[in-house]
Amino acid sequence: MKTVLITGANKGIGFETAKQMAQLGYFVYLGSRDRVRGLESLSKLKASGVSNVELIEIDVTSIESIKRARQELETKMEALDVLINNAGIAGEQPQNMSTGRIENLRKVFETNFFGAVQMTQQFIDLLKKSEEPRIVNVSSGLGSLTAHSRDTVNSNMGMFDAYSCSKTALNAFTVMLAGEFRGTKFRINSVGPGYTATDLNGHKGTQTVEEAARRVVKYATLGSDGPTGGFFKDDIIPW
Ligand SMILES: NC(=O)c1ccc[n+]([C@@H]2O[C@H](COP(=O)([O-])OP(=O)(O)OC[C@H]3O[C@@H](n4cnc5c(N)ncnc54)[C@H](OP(=O)(O)O)[C@@H]3O)[C@@H](O)[C@H]2O)c1
Repeated sequence: MKTVLITGANKGIGFETAKQMAQLGYFVYLGSRDRVRGLESLSKLKASGVSNVELIEIDVTSIESIKRARQELETKMEALDVLINNAGIAGEQPQNMSTGRIENLRKVFETNFFGAVQMTQQFIDLLKKSEEPRIVNVSSGLGSLTAHSRDTVNSNMGMFDAYSCSKTALNAFTVMLAGEFRGTKFRINSVGPGYTATDLNGHKGTQTVEEAARRVVKYATLGSDGPTGGFFKDDIIPW
């Protein structure tokens, strides 16, 4: 059975992605930084008829927590087939660039950028052991510099500026990492799941978690002819 590790999977898009990957026959390691919240989500998944899932405690901002998780998973799997760097935070308000608190910018980057980088670094050896390793960095259309510079994205008067910067950086990480593994069996992509009703935006999003997770799952399960180093929603998102 193929394996997938999803960070921040105790709710929202990550939870639904866990469900869809399990339904496709993957063994899912459901990442949650909080054990109690993770156990509740695990029970919900199992109640929905999914049994190929296990909880793994991971706080992506803590290297000790990530290393503990890796040590635990190394004893349970030969290889990790898919890593989905999904954990993310929106950050506090206001976060416009001229006056937003620098501490908030750092905090948002710690989770949305450094969290994904240190997760990937700690799990890359297990991914290399897979026949078809896949990494999905869950990004956002708000990470598109093209969209911001053409003013075609609704950034709500700077409400998501720190968040947007962190997702642009995450996209840069995707490109650099995919470049490092070009010509290999790896497929590494950024996916913008779309504006989705979750806690992240007070459930104002216009899409469902099912729609959002389907986009993530598509790039988590790419065949060997699939793209790498790209940024996708349904189609290519311009950088
Ligand atoms: N919703 C949207 O419209 C939208 C649009 C584009 C992109 N995205 C991206 O999609 C991803 C999932 O977001 P969502 O909308 O599903 O939000 P959500 O419902 O708020 O879920 C976020 C998840 O990330 C977890 N998390 C936060 N900080 C963490 C940390 N340090 N370590 C581990 N887990 C952590 C949360 O855990 P706790 O429950 O413990 O807080 C939660 O499980 C994010 O990367 C987000 O940026 C969302």
